[in-house]
Amino acid sequence: MGKDVIVACDFSSAEDVYAFLDKFKGRKPFVKIGMELFYAEGPQIVKSIKERGHKIFLDLKLHDIPNTVKKSMSVLSRLDVDMTNLHAAGTISMMEAAIEGLTRPDGSRPLLIAVTQLTSTDQERMENDLLIKEPIDKVVMHYAANAAKAGLDGVVCSPLEAGKVHDTCGKEFLTVTPGVRFADGDIGDQKRVMTPAEAKKIGSDYIVVGRPITAAEDPVAAYERCVKEFVD
Ligand code: C5P
Repeated sequence: MGKDVIVACDFSSAEDVYAFLDKFKGRKPFVKIGMELFYAEGPQIVKSIKERGHKIFLDLKLHDIPNTVKKSMSVLSRLDVDMTNLHAAGTISMMEAAIEGLTRPDGSRPLLIAVTQLTSTDQERMENDLLIKEPIDKVVMHYAANAAKAGLDGVVCSPLEAGKVHDTCGKEFLTVTPGVRFADGDIGDQKRVMTPAEAKKIGSDYIVVGRPITAAEDPVAAYERCVKEFVD
C-alpha cells in the first residue's frame, strides 16, 4: 500500500471544486469528498471527479442498522470510489455487513476505514454524553481492534495515535490521519497537529490535508510540499 496525500475538498459546490482541481493541470491528487459536497451535488460529483482521473475517498461515515449499511455500501461501491468509511460505534456486525455490501461481484471492493471516536469528542463528553467511562485512548484502540476483527482495512485517527494503532492491529492495518499542518502554517481549529514529515516518521499511511492546501495562495505548491515531506 503506497503512502499518499489525500486532499480534503471541503467545498459546497461543483464549480468551486472544479476550479480548485483545474489548478493542478496534469496532476491528479487523491481527493476526499465529504458530506458537504456530496449532499450538495449528489453522486454525480463523485462520478465526474473519478472521470477526471482522481482517486476518491468518499467520507460519509455511515452508521445505521447492519442491513441498511450493507445496502448503502453496495450503492457506494458502484460509484467506483477507492476508499470509504463508517463509524466503528455501529458494532462489529454492522462493519461485517458493510464489507459484504461493498464487495463487488468480482470480489474487489473499495478500502473501508472506520472512524473510532471523533476528535471532537473528548473524555468528558464521552463519559457524560455517551456514558463510556473508559479512558478515551483505550476506547479508540478497542474500536480499531473491532474494525480489524470485522475485516476492515484501517481507521481514521490522529497522527499521534497511528503508531499505537499499528502496534495493536498490525503494520498492514491502515492509518488515515487528518490534523496535518506545515511547521510554519496556521493551525486553525485543529488541536493536535503534526507536520507531513512527522506523520511520515510516525507511520501514517495516508494524510488527509484540507485548508493547508485548499486555502493556500498556491495550492499546487502546497500539495507538492506535502508530497515531498510525506511521500518522497
Ligand atoms: O482543513 P483541514 O486540514 O483541517 O481538514 C481536515 C479534514 O479531515 C476535514 O475534511 C475534516 O472534516 C477531516 N477530519 C478531521 N478530523 C477527524 C476526521 C476527519 O479533521 N477526526
